Amino acid sequence: MEIKEHISLKSYNTFGIDVFTSKFVEITDIDELKEILIENNQPILILGGGSNILFTKDFDGIVIKNNIKEINIVKETNDEIQLKVGAGEVWHEFVLFCIENNYAGIENLSLIPGNVGASPMQNIGAYGVEVKDLITEVEAFDLKDYSIKIFSNEECEFGYRSSIFKTSEKGNYFITSVTFKLNKRADINTSYGAIEKELERMNISSPSIKNVSNAVINIRSNKLPDPKKIGNSGSFFKNPIVPKEQKDKILEDYADAPNYSQPDGSFKMAAGWLIEKCGWKGKRIDNYGVHENQALVIVNYGGAKGSDIFNLSAEIIKSVKETFGIELEREVNII
Ligand code: FAD
Ligand code: EPU
Repeated sequence: MEIKEHISLKSYNTFGIDVFTSKFVEITDIDELKEILIENNQPILILGGGSNILFTKDFDGIVIKNNIKEINIVKETNDEIQLKVGAGEVWHEFVLFCIENNYAGIENLSLIPGNVGASPMQNIGAYGVEVKDLITEVEAFDLKDYSIKIFSNEECEFGYRSSIFKTSEKGNYFITSVTFKLNKRADINTSYGAIEKELERMNISSPSIKNVSNAVINIRSNKLPDPKKIGNSGSFFKNPIVPKEQKDKILEDYADAPNYSQPDGSFKMAAGWLIEKCGWKGKRIDNYGVHENQALVIVNYGGAKGSDIFNLSAEIIKSVKETFGIELEREVNII
């Protein structure tokens, strides 16, 4: 375990922001984590794939990159399998592992960047599935008393792009593994319109989980910028959830405003649509801007500062608030 000093984090965040950390270490198990914490009494930043982080300044502390790897069967029946997966496993590689073994339920979450350990943080979701639907428990290292804690699915308090690890217990735990329950008999979920259309285009009428995964990969590759080519963190903002009256008021002026009813009677509005209507889509300022195909994605064309991107996000929030009376909330973690 080597502690590196004063290193650039540019290649460790998908926005490609060039900031420095005083110290940097990669850990492969809990003992190494404990050792680092005991020997270095300073602020820590836990890093997975760096795909949901915006660095606005250098980090004065120790960045701990999580490389804890394992995929172990903890329970198996004829219908289901439970897998305990190390937090440092790459998310999409784990998805592909499941598909190869015919473990269903996770295929709609194909190609989401990042590591398994971050997946419960904001309850990653796409194309009609959220990871909360698959998680049975989360194992985490308590950064206050160095004990190991197991959180049941309920204890994680999952919500839309939210969990206890992003709210009341923020910064208190290092997630070390996640246990998932998958189906051994495929129960394919193509209810999301875009998947159905893509499968049709691919000429597939009775899809396998591999087909669904490929359809999702095609859709995502067409819509979202590849961080290897253009720096970004996916959706910069969450889709806002508003009361019915506020949704109805917006629809009076814009009948085409996308909206999705929620179980509690409120409505989720599409932040990308709101931002586009305010004129931001494709807007470029020097070396950063709003993506031309997806207004919810802020991009770094190369060499942008995190603070510039943060300021742009503040202008977008202000403009959507003035136009629609809705206060957008950032999804990306700002450091
Ligand atoms: P990081 O960015 O490294 O970390 C994110 C946060 O979690 C940080 O605060 C970090 O400190 C904390 N953290 C990371 N690991 C741990 C750990 N082990 N224990 C405790 N805290 C930890 N998200 C979606 O939900 N749906 C999508 O469809 C989606 N599409 C995306 C598309 C693109 C092109 C990109 C770039 C991002 C997308 N995202 C999406 C966002 C991102 O992929 C997810 O949030 C992902 O889970 C982040 O994983 P990560 O390992 O990169 O986390
Ligand atoms: N839209 C516009 N203009 C835009 C972008 C979108 O009008 O510039 C409209 C679309 O036409 C559509 C609606 O907004 O009617 C929703 O768009 P889309 O289906 O692309 O999904 P999204 O709400 O923009 C969400 C997630 C994504 C996830 C996709 C697919 C959030 C914040 N984002 O995006 O997650 O992949 O759905 O399920 O919930 C992420 O979290 O980083 C992320 C990429």
